[in-house]
Amino acid sequence: KFHSTLIEKDRWLYLLDGLKTTLIITFFAVILGMVLGFLIAIVRSTHDKTGKLGFLNVLARIYLTVIRGTPVVVQLLIIYFVIFASVNVGKTFVAVLAFGLNSAAYVAEIVRSGIMSIDNGQFEASASLGLNYPKTLLSVILPQAFKNVLPALANECIVLLKETSVAGYIAVIDLTKGGDIIRSQTYEAFLPLIAVALIYLIMVMILSSLVTKLERRLARSDRG
Ligand code: ARG
Repeated sequence: KFHSTLIEKDRWLYLLDGLKTTLIITFFAVILGMVLGFLIAIVRSTHDKTGKLGFLNVLARIYLTVIRGTPVVVQLLIIYFVIFASVNVGKTFVAVLAFGLNSAAYVAEIVRSGIMSIDNGQFEASASLGLNYPKTLLSVILPQAFKNVLPALANECIVLLKETSVAGYIAVIDLTKGGDIIRSQTYEAFLPLIAVALIYLIMVMILSSLVTKLERRLARSDRG
């Protein structure tokens, strides 16, 4: 017997609204993470190859160290309660910012390793054709590097989707928080939490099957 006044319909709405919030946070955080991550990777590898951008490279390295060296939940709390302490901003926006800024650090390392995996001969050949470094990077190196790291980037999206489950720490009602609210209001833990887990699992399985398809297609285009 439920000790609750919540009717069945309202409960499912928590999950549905929560899912919507989870998807919104993930979507925009992925975009922010990819854009910023690519920029950081470009700075880092430009410095590695040409010795230029020394100052930006130092900033980028500090950024990567701090972001990857602290838990994402703590970063989320700091952005909400410290950085935006006296500013009225939307919690969902803060979550996008926190997860996007966090993901950028991981994306940057993925993309940088992709750039580094391209044979030095490609850089030299481009230089001998008279291309300057930015042009080389943009039109010769990045297209190849991007293809090599596409599966890793897709995996990062999956990780990010699951990472957003800590958004409830700043009282964002995402899928996880939605399920937990149902638990706390109904004193029934099993059903809501298993439902939450299943919804994540289904989303992750869909995304990973897309990654597998992508990998197969890339392998095929390598052969052909
Ligand atoms: N959960 C880890 C943390 O608390 C981050 C895991 C890796 N994140 C990523 N977007 N690849 O910091």
